[in-house]
Formats: sequence, C-alpha cells, structure tokens
Amino acid sequence: MFAIAILAAGKGTRMKSSLPKVLHKIAGKTLLERVVGNALSLKPKKCLLITGHQAQAIKSSLKDFNNIDFVHQEPQQGTGHAIQQLMPELKEFKGDLLVLNGDVPLLGKKTLTKLLSKHKESQASVTLLSANLKNPKGYGRVFLNSNNLVTQIIEDKDCSEIQLKNTLINAGVYCFNWSELKNVLSRLTPNNSQQEIYLTDAIEKLPLANHIQVDDSKEIIGINNKMQLAECETILQKRLRAYWMEAGVTFIDPSSCTISEKCTFGSEVTIEPQTHLRGECKIGDNCTLGPDTLIIDSVLGDNVNVIKSVIDNSDIKDSVKIGPFAHLRPRTEISNDCRIGNFVETKNTQIGRGTKINHLSYIGDSILGNEVNIGAGTITANFDGFKKNKTVIGDMTKTGANSVLVAPITIEANVTIGAGSTITKDVSKNSLAIERSKQLIKQNWSKS
Ligand code: UD1
Ligand code: CA
Repeated sequence: MFAIAILAAGKGTRMKSSLPKVLHKIAGKTLLERVVGNALSLKPKKCLLITGHQAQAIKSSLKDFNNIDFVHQEPQQGTGHAIQQLMPELKEFKGDLLVLNGDVPLLGKKTLTKLLSKHKESQASVTLLSANLKNPKGYGRVFLNSNNLVTQIIEDKDCSEIQLKNTLINAGVYCFNWSELKNVLSRLTPNNSQQEIYLTDAIEKLPLANHIQVDDSKEIIGINNKMQLAECETILQKRLRAYWMEAGVTFIDPSSCTISEKCTFGSEVTIEPQTHLRGECKIGDNCTLGPDTLIIDSVLGDNVNVIKSVIDNSDIKDSVKIGPFAHLRPRTEISNDCRIGNFVETKNTQIGRGTKINHLSYIGDSILGNEVNIGAGTITANFDGFKKNKTVIGDMTKTGANSVLVAPITIEANVTIGAGSTITKDVSKNSLAIERSKQLIKQNWSKS
C-alpha cells in the first residue's frame, strides 16, 4: 500500500516569474499536470498535493483531476517542512510514501514503478532516485558507503569544493517507509545555508537508505529556471515529433516545428517547416499544414491545406484551402470545400459549403450561406462604435470588389452587390444592389 505526496508549494524564485513555477507549461501542459497525471496513473491509496504559494491558482489548474487531497503549507520553509504538514493527514497511514517534486516533469511511469518495486524488495527505510550527471550544478549530491547505500545528501549550496565534484545527484523522488520517516521528520532542523528544513536531511537519519540510478538522466531534470524549462521543452518536442512520425506524420523539417501534447493527427498528414500547433488541436487525414503556420485549439477535417496562416479556436471541415496570409480568429466555423485566401481575416463567423473569400477581406460576426463569393476587399463593418453587429449573407450571393457591408444587415440569397458599394440596407433575394456615384468623364481634359 502506498500514498503519494507531490511538492508544489514553492514560489520558484529562480524562474523570475509571477506565475508559480509548477504552472509553467511544456508542450502545452503544466509541469504539475504532468507530475499529477503520472502519479494518479500509479493508482495510489491517496494522492496529496502540497500547496502554498498561490494555492488557489494551483488548485484551479487541476480541476480536471479527481482524487487529489490538498494540504496547505504556510509559510514555505523547505521540502522537509512541506512533508511535515502531512503528519495529521497520514496519522493512521501504514505503508510507503512516494514523494515527487512538482518541478520534475519528465519522469516516466516505468521508472516510478521500478522505484516502488525495488523499494518493496529491499525493505529499505527509503529508496531514492539518483542520476549521474555531467553537469550536476544545482542538484543535491548523493553520498554512498562501500555497500552502495546512501549515507547523506548534501545540497549544492551546502557542498564543499570537494563534495561539489560528486556527480551523483538526488532526483527529488523518494519512496519512504512512512512510519520510519514519521519518526525522524520532527527532528529536521533548518541548519543550512538557506535556513530551510530539507527533506534530504531525513536520509542520514534513517536506518537504511537505498538508491536506484535512472537509465536516462533526461527523465529527472528538475526545472528551477527558464534554461531548464527550455531544455525540457526541447526534449519533449523531440519525443512528440518522433511519436507522430512513427504514427505516419511527415515532417519536412522536424526541428523547426513545435506541437502540443494535446494534438492528434490523422493519416497522411504533412507538416511543412516552421509550423506550430498549440493547445488542443485535432487534425484530420490528408492535411498539409505550413510552411509558416500557427494553429491554436482548432479542429481541422480531412484534406485541409493551410499555408502561412494563423488559425485560432476555429472549426474547419473537409477540403478547405486556407492562405497564404489568412487569419482565422476565434469562433470561425468553415464548412466543406471553402477557400479562404490571401490577407483574409475572419472572426466569430460561420461559413457555408463551397464559399470563397479569396482576397483582402474582413468578415466578422457573420453567417454566410453556401457557394457565396466574397469579392476582393469586401469588409463587414461590424462595429458601430458601441457594439458588434451581425451580417447575414444568403446562398450564392456575390459581393463585388471593395464592398462595405454595414452591419446589422441581411443580404439574402442570390444577390449581386456592385463593386465599390457601401450597403446599409437589407437586400432581398435575387436583387442587384449598387451604391455608387455616377461616373463623370471629362474628355480631352489632360493638358499635354
Ligand atoms: C530539491 C532537493 C535536491 C534535488 C532537487 C531535484 C531538497 C532540499 N533538495 O532541490 O536535493 O537535487 O530537488 O530536483 O529537497 N517546495 C515546497 N515547499 C517548500 C519548498 C519547496 O513544496 O517549502 C516544492 C517546490 O514547489 C518544488 C519542490 O518542492 O516543486 C522542490 O523545491 P526546490 O526549491 O525546487 O528544490 P531544489 O533546490 O531543486
Ligand atoms: Ca527544483
């Protein structure tokens, strides 16, 4: 039987950010979402999350997860102090306590399972994860005796010159025998350079401290600063692209693209250079995305082509061609077989099947029917200075170049709008609407 405690109360001063450290994202998910997701997948008896700095923000970031008990640590006086807060919660608990740092996001389930089973086998008071790092700076160093047992962990800031040369580091992941840990917790003192109560000081006080070294040291990177955040992002992006390439996605220049972990791709998808997918995106079969494209929280059907464009919070059905230089802003919904061309901006708009908006348009707060042809430079003037108004355009209607449609306005089906018209009144079906001053021609006007 085991419980899990996740440490997430610290501010993360070294991140130089007002956002709590564990709420920073890599590949579209917060560090904490990753650690919590992993923890719950192990099906512990209890999962306790220690919050402190911006506790409310931390709690609401995890509202999609059930089965987490929050424990508050105030003030935050170190990792040992954080675990001391569990005493009342785990008063009657008998079993092991797996402790995870909220800022170690790449740790795999496999490694954690291995740690749990090794700990059980060896009957140690604690088994911790260690790693041999080329550059161990910033991590606590693990010291061993001749039996390969851990005698002590000394924090980087408290190490002597010679101790700093030890490259075996503490990953911040431990499996404790809770009854034994409980006995030593109250004896931890803030007797160190940071004046904090270190959990790592518990190790030397326990009768038998074991360790297992991770095979892949990338797994245990702890994030304390923006450099480490970027390092983890790079590792995850590489993994994600490899995963999707194995699933059949073609990347022309993989390292120039980034994708979020919440993206999915159908078959025969090609991702051209400099293409980025953020948030939750679902891409259908046979799509080509990019080059130079940003897609955020959007759904694309099958056979969609997007070149040099930005698509944000939009829903695009099959066989739609977008770009170059289109900007689909939130709540754009595009039906099958549409064409959204050069320098077109859309927002909060539903576009019917087979409709074309090919050049230089702004279409906002609108509903367009099927087979509509929006002429070059057509603008929906949706804002009257106070509020946004709606434009409705019926099936088969054609707007001429440079039409301005002043909303609220309804233009029914099969209408033709003359080029250069500013339309302010509703137009009934099958009509021609034109608003232009008469053309004047003065012959032989030129002096030369
Ligand atoms: C810690 C370990 C270090 C290890 C490293 C691995 C200690 C004393 N040191 O150092 O040996 O090599 O992790 O990444 O444990 N936290 C709280 N309450 C607090 C302080 C911190 O919940 O009062 C949380 C933080 O939010 C963070 C985690 O504990 O998620 C680790 O804290 P951090 O300050 O980053 O410890 P390190 O200096 O990295
Ligand atoms: Ca850390």
